[in-house]
Amino acid sequence: MCSSDLRQPDGSFTMHVDGEVDIRGVYCALSVARITNIYTSSLFTLTDLWLADCQTYEGGFGACPGMEAHGGYSFCGLAGLMLMQKGKLCNIDNLLRCTSNKQMRLEGGFQGRTNKLVDGCYSFWQGGVFPLLHDLLPSEELEVGKCEHWLFNTEALQHYLLICCQDHRGGLKDKPGKSSDFYHTCYGLSGLSVCQNFIGDNLVSSNVVGDARSEERRVG
Ligand code: FPP
Ligand code: ZN
Repeated sequence: MCSSDLRQPDGSFTMHVDGEVDIRGVYCALSVARITNIYTSSLFTLTDLWLADCQTYEGGFGACPGMEAHGGYSFCGLAGLMLMQKGKLCNIDNLLRCTSNKQMRLEGGFQGRTNKLVDGCYSFWQGGVFPLLHDLLPSEELEVGKCEHWLFNTEALQHYLLICCQDHRGGLKDKPGKSSDFYHTCYGLSGLSVCQNFIGDNLVSSNVVGDARSEERRVG
């Protein structure tokens, strides 16, 4: 089996043989093709247009065209377009507005979609969209040289992750009352890393809330 077995005539990909079409499959196919250096435009004919079609009226992306926007799919959609160097096909203003509005005012963490609960894993799926957007936003909008932070509240998200999501037995969780697991530890730490490290055109800076021990250390 190879990814061309999963490819559909409209440029989308299924999750597995005889599986459903889903933007996660497209993102994985693009990532694997880029990492292994087998990317060709013919393998991904129409895929950029299919991805752009997944962006909904809310501004986020759905699992496939016409489906509800969700942060997990927004990351896959924008990252997928950028892996094809087609980030401009995304309506950037709408995605920025939608993603920033998913950061919850009280908790500081992100919800995955409208009217749902905060969850630590969206620290990456929503929070990880901001460095990508930063790359795409026209420099005059960011006032290059002046913009020294991602376009969300990185302090509030660090508070949510460090105070509400740490499990005293180790690892990170979705929210208080839940147990830690590998998935939420991975994506909570990934979101924490986005918060603590800003990489702009003219500036690389770190912003760690609280005790210096809250800093996520680099390995190697
Ligand atoms: C809703 O679950 C979850 C989804 C609709 C899918 C989320 C997609 C991702 C996290 C992206 C995964 C990406 C790859 C590459 C595998 P829910 O209804 O339990 O959660 P909610 O209430 O927070 O929406
Ligand atoms: Zn979660």
